[in-house]
Amino acid sequence: MTTPRPAAVVVLAAGEGTRMRSATPKVLHTLAGRSMLGHALAAARSLEPELLTVVVRHERDRVAAHALEVDPDVLVSDQDDVPGTGRAVQCALSTLEAAARARAVGAEQGHEGVLDGPVVVLAGDIPLLDGGTLAELLAAHVADGNAVTVLTTEVDDATGYGRVVRDPETGEVTGVVEHKDADDAQRAIREINSSVYVFDAAVLRGALGRLGRDNAQGEVYLTDVLAIARADGGAVRAVRVDDPWLVEGANDRAQMSVLRAEMNRRIVQDWMVAGVTVVDPATTWIDVEAELEPDVTVLPGTQLLGRTTVARDAVVGPDTTLTDVHVGAGAQVIRTHGSSSRIGAGAVVGPFSFLRPGTDLGADGKIGAYVETKNAHIGAHSKVPHLSYVGDATIGEHTNVGAGTIFVNYDGVTKSRSTVGDHVRIGSDNAIVAPVTIGDGAYTGAGSVIRHDVPAGALGVNTAPQRTIDRWVLRRREGTPSAQAAAAALRAHDEDDVPLSPQAQAERARATTQQDG
Ligand code: UD1
Ligand code: CA
Repeated sequence: MTTPRPAAVVVLAAGEGTRMRSATPKVLHTLAGRSMLGHALAAARSLEPELLTVVVRHERDRVAAHALEVDPDVLVSDQDDVPGTGRAVQCALSTLEAAARARAVGAEQGHEGVLDGPVVVLAGDIPLLDGGTLAELLAAHVADGNAVTVLTTEVDDATGYGRVVRDPETGEVTGVVEHKDADDAQRAIREINSSVYVFDAAVLRGALGRLGRDNAQGEVYLTDVLAIARADGGAVRAVRVDDPWLVEGANDRAQMSVLRAEMNRRIVQDWMVAGVTVVDPATTWIDVEAELEPDVTVLPGTQLLGRTTVARDAVVGPDTTLTDVHVGAGAQVIRTHGSSSRIGAGAVVGPFSFLRPGTDLGADGKIGAYVETKNAHIGAHSKVPHLSYVGDATIGEHTNVGAGTIFVNYDGVTKSRSTVGDHVRIGSDNAIVAPVTIGDGAYTGAGSVIRHDVPAGALGVNTAPQRTIDRWVLRRREGTPSAQAAAAALRAHDEDDVPLSPQAQAERARATTQQDG
């Protein structure tokens, strides 16, 4: 059976979400790397509706901007001061009808420009609701020719939810009564309204005009449409899901954390089914948009965030956080914090590495312990093994950067890039002062400050000759443990009668002269 397409989907996101106690509107809070509204829009868009609208009011500009960022084709409907989900859908409907009329202009003949067919409505705060569940609801609605189809579930504690009231004889849905309006018998009902519905557009249009506010909250209730539609002779049916998580709403941060953990549990489970080894699912967090290939291994304490992708046979973790990072096949990424970077196939990163945006490590390359990188292209087989900063640099292939080397990219005003060729050996503790170019096959001496280009094959070295001042510690640090140790060593030395080095002899002579003078 092909899934029917709805005429429109309405996502409700005008509420304030007071129980979040947040300056950020509730629907913008995130789980698994996506806002609650983002999850709702993704599920909505998967139905391929002709029109998709989101209803906004609280923090209108922020919510609208976010919705458009997530889904540029979404229509924004503004809800006025009249409160309630019914009012929200009234406001959505005027936006949708205007859009349908605008579409009809210039469209093929016979297009009447009225909204016609199934209209899906869902609350923006049900993050685990997926497109598949929505599609099943829509399919049931169309197959049964319903006026209204509501998604319901049974919960142990229905406090706060609208209860689904059924005819005791026939079991047919007669309406939904809100918790605050329910009597004791109704409050005992455990079947709840999930705030996800499919309405026939004409039924919805007709019923919305007749909604009152005569209820405990003084709001225009969308739920009242069900009883009206039934009174008008329409078929009102429920699709009951067995899995209450699918329709669970998040109203405060505690509920959010429970839903977040459950969403993550499902994502991790799906990746394991798809062939990924996850050693500790409880400490592994994977965002919805991350992708992993079979035979990837994820070690404990790892977060794969944003659009991170991990290719076959790679091992990530333990204790690694990657955001928008591509990890190549067979790479190892150990105790690393990285974002917006690429790690080549077979490369090794970590432990304790910090990959900032724009890091691109070639195949079989290495970024080792206590190394920070940024806007750094490090070619295949090249290594930055220890204690270094590589910022704004292009490094060729098969090059080695000695321990403790800093790419000095900032002169206090501007940032500059340095370029290092293939098969270069940069000595330990170098400062590569950008902009500078080091040619293929060049070497630099340990401790050098490279301020000028080093041509291919040359050795760049600029360290000063070492001075050794004999017995300096004995004279200047008299009485310290170092002086005592030195005195003992020198005594032993004299007893052995081993002559001092020529340099040491010269230094001794000079020091003696200085002391005497
Ligand atoms: C609503 C339902 C209730 C159901 C519950 C499921 C009504 C009257 N009640 O109650 O039957 O069991 O959801 O979670 O519909 N919204 C607007 N404009 C408004 C008010 C709300 O757009 O004026 C949006 C909110 O942003 C939210 C959704 O509608 O996304 C639900 O609103 P909420 O206040 O959470 O409704 P509940 O009281 O939970
Ligand atoms: Ca709610």
